[in-house]
Amino acid sequence: MSSSGTRTDLGRALCIITGASRGFGRVVARHMSELLKPGSALVLAARSGDELRAAAAEVTGAAAGGGGLLVLCVPVDLSHSDGVTELLAAVKTSYTDDMDHVLLVNNAGSLGDISRYMTSFTNMAEVDSYLSFNVSSSLCLTASVLEAFPRRPGLRRTVVNVTSLCALKPHCSWVLYCTGKAAREMMFRVLAEEEPDVRVLSYSPGPLDTDMFMLARSRTADPDLRKSLSDMFAQGQVLTCDESCTKMMKVLLEDQYVSGSHVDIYEV
Ligand SMILES: NC(=O)c1ccc[n+]([C@@H]2O[C@H](COP(=O)([O-])OP(=O)(O)OC[C@H]3O[C@@H](n4cnc5c(N)ncnc54)[C@H](OP(=O)(O)O)[C@@H]3O)[C@@H](O)[C@H]2O)c1
Repeated sequence: MSSSGTRTDLGRALCIITGASRGFGRVVARHMSELLKPGSALVLAARSGDELRAAAAEVTGAAAGGGGLLVLCVPVDLSHSDGVTELLAAVKTSYTDDMDHVLLVNNAGSLGDISRYMTSFTNMAEVDSYLSFNVSSSLCLTASVLEAFPRRPGLRRTVVNVTSLCALKPHCSWVLYCTGKAAREMMFRVLAEEEPDVRVLSYSPGPLDTDMFMLARSRTADPDLRKSLSDMFAQGQVLTCDESCTKMMKVLLEDQYVSGSHVDIYEV
């Protein structure tokens, strides 16, 4: 803890990051590893085992104090309940009794089909499949982790939801994404009300130079939104994941946010 009351590390922690194979999640894994005390564990989940192993190699190089960090790659598809179950089993094996912090970052997400408008989504199976990955898996994983590591003296519990402006503001032709992000934010607000000891952060990382943003600016059906995303990119207004992640870590270390609230990068 610094003289201003800001923490300087995340403790001896069990950190779980979904969507850690690329984009923002991969950068979060690297930043977190630099803030973990020896004896910590980092569990990285996504579908691509090869990309996860590449992410783990970056992390192992970055870990504070070099050794003492267990990094576990868990290749799972979180759009199915089996994926959540498998991830939870790996998480449980990574925990040791001397850990003082459990930190879950719900980062994995997808845009869904943004090439169509709301009125074309008549197929319930398609909508269910989107919500299963983007909403249900995040709810069930968070619940399972909190159930597996219940409240006890000396254990901090933190849950991060990587959110978006789309949770608050409608975007034409992004009905699945906006719906999923709005639902997730409410889910985490309920959690914050129910479990006052759990620190719950919905962090909106801003426009990031990732595969998701590339898809957004090329596939969006709505011409005005597509143009504004392309202009943003052309004018250099898209952020690097490192810039955004540095801000997220600042918020987590200062620990002054209202639990359950939406914190936008531009407010940090
Ligand atoms: N990029 C932006 O401008 C932006 C803006 C605001 C908020 N966000 C949010 O930030 C988060 C990260 O976005 P990003 O831009 O880094 O996205 P991204 O580049 O598309 O990466 C998505 C991550 O999720 C994983 N993933 C996708 N489907 C999965 C599945 N079925 N099961 C398990 N993992 C899966 C991917 O790995 P695999 O493919 O290997 O599974 C990847 O690691 C998302 O929640 C997104 O909504 C992004």
